[in-house]
Amino acid sequence: PLLLCLVAVGSYLLGSVPFGIVITRMLGLGDLRQIGSGNIGATNVLRTGNKGAALATLLLDAGKGGIAVLIARALTGAGDAAQVAAFASFLGHLYPVWLGFKGGKGVATFLGTLLALAWPVGLAACGTWLVTAIVTRISSLSALVAAASVAIWMWVFGQPQMIALGIILAALIFWRHSANIQRILAGTEPKIGKK
Ligand code: G3P
Repeated sequence: PLLLCLVAVGSYLLGSVPFGIVITRMLGLGDLRQIGSGNIGATNVLRTGNKGAALATLLLDAGKGGIAVLIARALTGAGDAAQVAAFASFLGHLYPVWLGFKGGKGVATFLGTLLALAWPVGLAACGTWLVTAIVTRISSLSALVAAASVAIWMWVFGQPQMIALGIILAALIFWRHSANIQRILAGTEPKIGKK
């Protein structure tokens, strides 16, 4: 139980590092909160026009979730601890103590934790995001479709013990995208790379 608490707190702190904010500040790209959707994720970093910064944000936000899961598994050897790490790092990204608990939408971090939890599920979710993005050119819609697909991929790839976590995280992603969903329905959600 003590080790599990440590895993939860450590994963939360790792997840709470807002790489989008860190990178855009380091590069002097302006205040991410005043740009585009105001979100701290890679999609909004891309709206600064700096593709490298957006890619770095994507990889680091995904990486922190993946690393949290790998550390938990190395420390405990247990699948339960890995799921706790995934949940805690995801919550860290959504509710970072450093930003007054006003964080991001969790898409990259979710994909990173999935790749570490069960890579076939992670790859399938990334593929779902990519195919939707190629077809629609809308990042948020791609995230919603990918999030909704995760429980199905967990079932397909023989990971039923993860389905509850997959559904909870997908529901939180939908909740965090409520403004995006309204814009998608109104036809005003911008395409990837557009302000
Ligand atoms: O990862 C967040 C993405 O799905 C939407 O980002 O900035 O368009 O709200 P944004």
